[in-house]
Amino acid sequence: MTGIKVGLVGAGLLGLTHSFCLKAISDAGLMDVKVTKVYDPNVAAADSLVENLGVEKRVASADEIFDDDNIDTVYITTPTLYHKELVCKAAAAGKNVFCEKPLYINYEGAKEMAAEIEKAKIVSGVGLVLRFSPTLNFILEKINTPDIGRPIFFSIRDDQCLPIKGLHHTTWRVNEEESGGGTLIEHSIHDIDLFSWLFGNIKLKDVDIKYHPEYQGIDNYVRIVAELKPRDGIAMEGILTSIWHDMIGRPSNRRLEIVFDKLFIATDHDFLGPIEITEGDGEVKIVEKDEILSTSLTTLGIVDSKIRDFFMGLDYETFGVYTLEDYFFLKAIVEKGVYSPGFDIAVSAHKLVHDIYSMGNK
Ligand SMILES: NC(=O)c1ccc[n+]([C@@H]2O[C@H](COP(=O)([O-])OP(=O)(O)OC[C@H]3O[C@@H](n4cnc5c(N)ncnc54)[C@H](O)[C@@H]3O)[C@@H](O)[C@H]2O)c1
Repeated sequence: MTGIKVGLVGAGLLGLTHSFCLKAISDAGLMDVKVTKVYDPNVAAADSLVENLGVEKRVASADEIFDDDNIDTVYITTPTLYHKELVCKAAAAGKNVFCEKPLYINYEGAKEMAAEIEKAKIVSGVGLVLRFSPTLNFILEKINTPDIGRPIFFSIRDDQCLPIKGLHHTTWRVNEEESGGGTLIEHSIHDIDLFSWLFGNIKLKDVDIKYHPEYQGIDNYVRIVAELKPRDGIAMEGILTSIWHDMIGRPSNRRLEIVFDKLFIATDHDFLGPIEITEGDGEVKIVEKDEILSTSLTTLGIVDSKIRDFFMGLDYETFGVYTLEDYFFLKAIVEKGVYSPGFDIAVSAHKLVHDIYSMGNK
């Protein structure tokens, strides 16, 4: 067997996204990878990947993928409720496993999954895709430079249309049994991970949660105030406001602001800026996408010119960041290395999500 052979479980938006990205990586000659089998109870969705993205074959069950000795790697991209059983079966079959976030509908289940993954000694990864965002890697680099002074304030306002129409025309996200909750677990688990990634441990100080009037157990407003200690133990305040509204015309994006004594950063765009920066007594500067992308590819360790050219040419409004994510997952498989963010990091995010729901529902 040559190359990486992938089995895909779940052919919705994220199944399509990863199929597209894996094909792009293969077509560009960066990695020898092919999605050979796809399973989705929605036959039309699976067939569409076979017809349009070069996936070899639709199969009638996920077990057909786990039992296939020619498949070494499995992507799990189903609604959240089904992740645990599928991940555990794939790991037990010795497959490398990439699972979309959230790992599961609750913290206990996420921990069980991580334990099974640990036992299996495979390459594993979780779709906390913000860690590959050029915007955020650029910002990470900035806040780790010396001479930016005392940390003061960090905030994210993450607002998105209730994901049951437009790009996310699904019903499972407003069914608590399948999603585990609303905007916090389903969407802002990304933000929770971002807090920890940028600033280390976070201590919750205050939580406010409001629920959608029509959908039982689906939070549509979550506000968190936390204490962060990013540098020399000096505390700064971190605020997350996570909102599901009903405006399909508004792009799903984050407003992010960071203030240190000698550094101000703000952006409204998750993936490719522009970023507004003021450093020390300098003027306000707008950093545009080419500089952001070039700097962040270097931060991510992409120095080879062929690989850089490929990633410089991608569309970061659509599949670009997911292609970076998949590239690093495949690289870990080829190099028999460790991929990050893995299940350990995802479990930490789940712990915080769990604590936030517990605190907010007191
Ligand atoms: N990382 C990100 O940026 C990001 C973005 C969106 C969604 N997600 C996550 O990806 C996962 C999938 O989300 P989506 O937007 O693709 O949802 P989706 O509804 O578009 O697709 C899910 C697909 O899974 C199929 N499915 C349901 N049960 C299944 C089963 N038991 N076995 C196989 N397939 C099954 C459905 O028929 C559907 O086609 C979710 O966990 C979601 O939270 C991650």
